[in-house]
Amino acid sequence: MQTRRQGEGETPVSLSPCLLVCIIPSMPRHGTFLVLDGTEGSGKSTQARLLEQKLTGLGREVLLVRDPGTTRIGEQIRNILLDPAHGEMGMRCEMLLYMSARAQMMKEVLGPALDAGKVVICDRFVSSTLAYQLGGDGVTAEEIRAIGDVAIKGRWPDLTLILDLPVEKSLGRLKRPKDRIEQRPVAYHEQVRQNYLRQARENPQKYRVIDADRGVEEIAHDIWVEAGPLVS
Ligand code: TMP
Repeated sequence: MQTRRQGEGETPVSLSPCLLVCIIPSMPRHGTFLVLDGTEGSGKSTQARLLEQKLTGLGREVLLVRDPGTTRIGEQIRNILLDPAHGEMGMRCEMLLYMSARAQMMKEVLGPALDAGKVVICDRFVSSTLAYQLGGDGVTAEEIRAIGDVAIKGRWPDLTLILDLPVEKSLGRLKRPKDRIEQRPVAYHEQVRQNYLRQARENPQKYRVIDADRGVEEIAHDIWVEAGPLVS
């Protein structure tokens, strides 16, 4: 009589992560995490909305958020950060406040949305801190990345799109009264632009630079070329 040990002669079955999620509903799914970033007036908020509309039209579940902000606590931290009356704020305090707002947003909103398999579009993220706070009071990129990692529990974006345009054009687009950060000199904003471009050069797998000195439709097209393959 032939006996067969368990598993012997059976075709091994490998379950795809999607199938596992159906079988084990409590298992977190992995959404797609996209960041739109860039200097003031680069049009990222308009483009974030267009991308949200496009994805929603394709039937994807999308969450659009802004950093700093989105949560009740985050919006209060945003007000403290941008209030021109807070001129005495040190750069380390500033950097940590951006991180605090972000930590709350990750806990309350982003983390759950990514676990639910949604596409998250974030208007600014740690890439902004690496552009705006880098070098202030000796703050290094390593410090920002390490503190960022703690704040967001290691949930780094899948792709960061930097909308790039010359500083004189981006600042010229601001029509409302300037906030505390926007009021800084042109040389500061030029350095911010260079800090974005350096990040993109140093991490080409996770960053793309989009020429934002063009029409809204052209920019949206290029954003879709880069982000589309990750979400469709
Ligand atoms: P927003 O007006 O694009 O929402 O951004 C708010 C301001 O905060 C803007 O001037 C850029 C600045 N900022 C930083 O300096 N560091 C950061 O980490 C973030 C997210 C924004």
